[in-house]
Amino acid sequence: MSKIEMFNKMAANPENKPKEIISVLDFKNGDNVLEIGVGGGYYANMIAQIIGPAGTYYGFEINEEFIDNLKQVNLASKYKNIKPIKITENSIPKLDKKMDLVFTRNSYHHLENRVEYFSNLKPLLNNDAKIVIIDFNKNHLTIKPDGHFVKKEVIVEEMTEAGYVLKTDYEILPFQSFLVFKQTNN
Ligand SMILES: C[S@@+](CC[C@H](N)C(=O)[O-])C[C@H]1O[C@@H](n2cnc3c(N)ncnc32)[C@H](O)[C@@H]1O
Repeated sequence: MSKIEMFNKMAANPENKPKEIISVLDFKNGDNVLEIGVGGGYYANMIAQIIGPAGTYYGFEINEEFIDNLKQVNLASKYKNIKPIKITENSIPKLDKKMDLVFTRNSYHHLENRVEYFSNLKPLLNNDAKIVIIDFNKNHLTIKPDGHFVKKEVIVEEMTEAGYVLKTDYEILPFQSFLVFKQTNN
């Protein structure tokens, strides 16, 4: 199985509650969404359909193969509203719209200098934007190699330092924390 197939199989597994994740995030027609670390594009495909042709789904990804795959996902998608953006580690390109939601799933632990990164992300956001962080809460050696996680308390600490406030802690996932932040003073 390729990495792309494996990511998508895991993302789609009902045990990991994709329907519930999408439902509680309450995407609206016309929303603009940025995903950091799109992997196989499972969420890109699902969410781009919900935000519809008035919305755009931007996907930051460092891996060329995943970017090429996301281009194919876009071509096969209903509204062709997915924009793959190849980035270098921790770079934040300018986007032509302000984001209503930033989605990260199992990619937060890959980012370096996270406080600086999320602080630098602010010019891309609408005032009321949601920042969604889903990541492994502890080592799950059967699922991931050692160290592929960031504890919930550490995420909250880092995001607070970057200028965000925790709005919702969805305790619905068996292996991951699922946190939604907004910018402080919003
Ligand atoms: C474990 S995969 C998760 C993929 C997808 N979000 C999912 O839930 O299936 C982590 C992804 O983050 C990407 N990634 C790693 N470092 C990154 C960075 N600095 N910026 C953007 N993406 C990154 C990897 O290439 C990979 O696609």
